[in-house]
Amino acid sequence: MLVHIPQLLGAEEVALSREILLQQPWQDGRLTAGHMAAHVKTNQQLSRDNASAQKIGDLILDKLGQSPLFMSVALPLKVLPPLFNRYEGGTSYGDHTDNAIFTMPNSTMRVRSDVSTTVFLSEPDAYVGGELVIVDTYGEQRVKLAAGDAIVYPASSLHRVEPVTEGVRLGAFFWTQSLVASNEQRQMLYDLDCAVQQVLTEDSASAAARRLSGIYHNLLRMWSQT
Ligand code: NI
Repeated sequence: MLVHIPQLLGAEEVALSREILLQQPWQDGRLTAGHMAAHVKTNQQLSRDNASAQKIGDLILDKLGQSPLFMSVALPLKVLPPLFNRYEGGTSYGDHTDNAIFTMPNSTMRVRSDVSTTVFLSEPDAYVGGELVIVDTYGEQRVKLAAGDAIVYPASSLHRVEPVTEGVRLGAFFWTQSLVASNEQRQMLYDLDCAVQQVLTEDSASAAARRLSGIYHNLLRMWSQT
């Protein structure tokens, strides 16, 4: 399941972030790729120690915390700080699946990647190519969103970034360990939550919505791990 979060960052925030990011010292993306992924990755990334990138990462985390849509779709338990990538001059990231386990920076805490998120930081008409292609249950989904928008998808999915042949594509990406490890269970909870919200929009006093909401919370109680 892919879920599009529009305008996670506002126009001014994303423009300022882009301006700052372009001035940073970019590194070969293979430094942070897993053994298998390093063979297919030619983009550039910023070091986790980069203070400007950390600030923008904090802004993204702050915005996520205020997004009911992200909360509903990801059911976050632990969120890794965002990383940043840059594609230009034909660079790409071929088909891969993200690593399952990461360590929280400056800590020994392990984080299982259940959910991947990409935040698009460049306007789609500022570069050619660069689609995020995700193999979903229903085939390949090609994603190229407005700057400031985010896409949330299962970390277990096979995905790639197409070569950027003109312009520059900047993006932020990060992984979330969800309260609910199973993609299927998480998707059902999301669908149920959407249905409850829809019923409540039509009838804020709906008794059915109250019962469905009870089922939502009892399923979450049954399926969540903390
Ligand atoms: Ni990936």
